[in-house]
Amino acid sequence: MKSIQSVNNIIVFGQEVYSQLNTYIKENQPSKLFLLVDEHTQTNCTSFFLQQLETDITIEIIEIEAGEEHKTIETCNGVWQTLSELDADRKSLLLNLGGGVVTDLGGFVASTFKRGIAYINIPTTLLAMVDASVGGKTGVDLGNLKNQIGLISNAEMVLIDVGYLATLPQNQMKSGLAEMLKHGLIQDQAYWKKMSDLSQLSLADLEQLIYESVIIKNNVVTEDLNEDGIRKTLNFGHTLGHAIESYFLTNTEKKTLLHGEAIAIGMILAAYISNRITNLPHEEVAEIKSVLLQTFEKVSFTEKDIEQIIELMKYDKKNSHGNINFVLLEKIGQCKIDCTVPNDVIYQAFAYYAE
Ligand code: GLY
Repeated sequence: MKSIQSVNNIIVFGQEVYSQLNTYIKENQPSKLFLLVDEHTQTNCTSFFLQQLETDITIEIIEIEAGEEHKTIETCNGVWQTLSELDADRKSLLLNLGGGVVTDLGGFVASTFKRGIAYINIPTTLLAMVDASVGGKTGVDLGNLKNQIGLISNAEMVLIDVGYLATLPQNQMKSGLAEMLKHGLIQDQAYWKKMSDLSQLSLADLEQLIYESVIIKNNVVTEDLNEDGIRKTLNFGHTLGHAIESYFLTNTEKKTLLHGEAIAIGMILAAYISNRITNLPHEEVAEIKSVLLQTFEKVSFTEKDIEQIIELMKYDKKNSHGNINFVLLEKIGQCKIDCTVPNDVIYQAFAYYAE
C-alpha cells in the first residue's frame, strides 16, 4: 500500500512501516528514544515493536494507565516529569504506541515538552488508525469534558500496522468502525455502502477499508488543518456524541461508553435531526439507524439524562458566540456545517432513537 502524504508528514502502511521508521531514526539521529505505552500495549505490542527497531540509541519505556479517565493533565505531568528525569532533550523522539488516548496525550506531551520535541504515532487500535493518530489533534480532557485542552501539532510520521488489531477486543474494534462509517456518511456514499455490510468483511478487506478511511480523513485535514471549515464535517455525530460520552464517563449509574459507541448514538440522532433541518431523506435516516444498530447495542436515556446531555453540549469545541453548531447531512456523502438546532428537535431525535 502506498504511503499517504499528509500535512508535513507521511502515513505509512503495512510492511513498509518499520523500514521507514528505521530510516527516519538513522537520518535524524535522535538523542534518545522514548516509547509511550499503556498497560495493554505494554503487554501486547511492546516486545514485537522493539524487535523491529534497528538502532543503538537508548530506548526508555514510559507506561501510563489505560482508559479515557487517564487522559488528563495529571497523566501528562507524570510523563513530562519522567522525560525530564530521564534526560530527554529537544532532540529526543517520542514514539506513541497505543490507542487514541496514547496518541492524543503523547502528541500533546511531545508538542509542549521543552516547547516541542518530535513524535511519531504507531496506532494500535482501529479508532486510532482511522482517526485519532491522523491530522495532528493532540490533547487531554478537562474533567469529564472531552479534548478541551490541546493543540494541533503533527506527528513526524504515522505508522499503520494492522497486525496490532489481532489482540484488540471486539468492543474496541467496533468503536473504530463507527468513525469509518462516519467517513462514508460525510464524504463518500460508495464507501458507506461497502462499510454497511460488515458481516461480509475479511481481515484483508479491513486493511483496504482502513486505507480508504485514512485517505478520506487525510483529504479533509490537508485542506483545512485548523478546522476553520471543512474539517468540522469530521465532527458529524460528535456534538451529541461527545456530550453523551462525557455524561456516561462520570455518571456512576451508567456504564462508560467507548468513544465509537457514543458517536454511533450521536450519528443516529444527527441523522434524524438532518431530516428535520437539512432534508436528509427519510429512507436514508432509517438506513443509517439500521446499519448502526446492527453493530451497536441500543442504550436507554431518561428525560433527566437527555436534559443533562443537552446541557453538556455547551462545551462543544465547534460552538461560537454562544451558538451550538451541528454538522448535518443533506444526503449520505454530503453534509452541511454550522447548523443550529432547536432543543425540541433534539428531544424528538432521542425519541426516534428509542423507537
Ligand atoms: N477527529 C476529528 C478530527 O480529527 O478532526
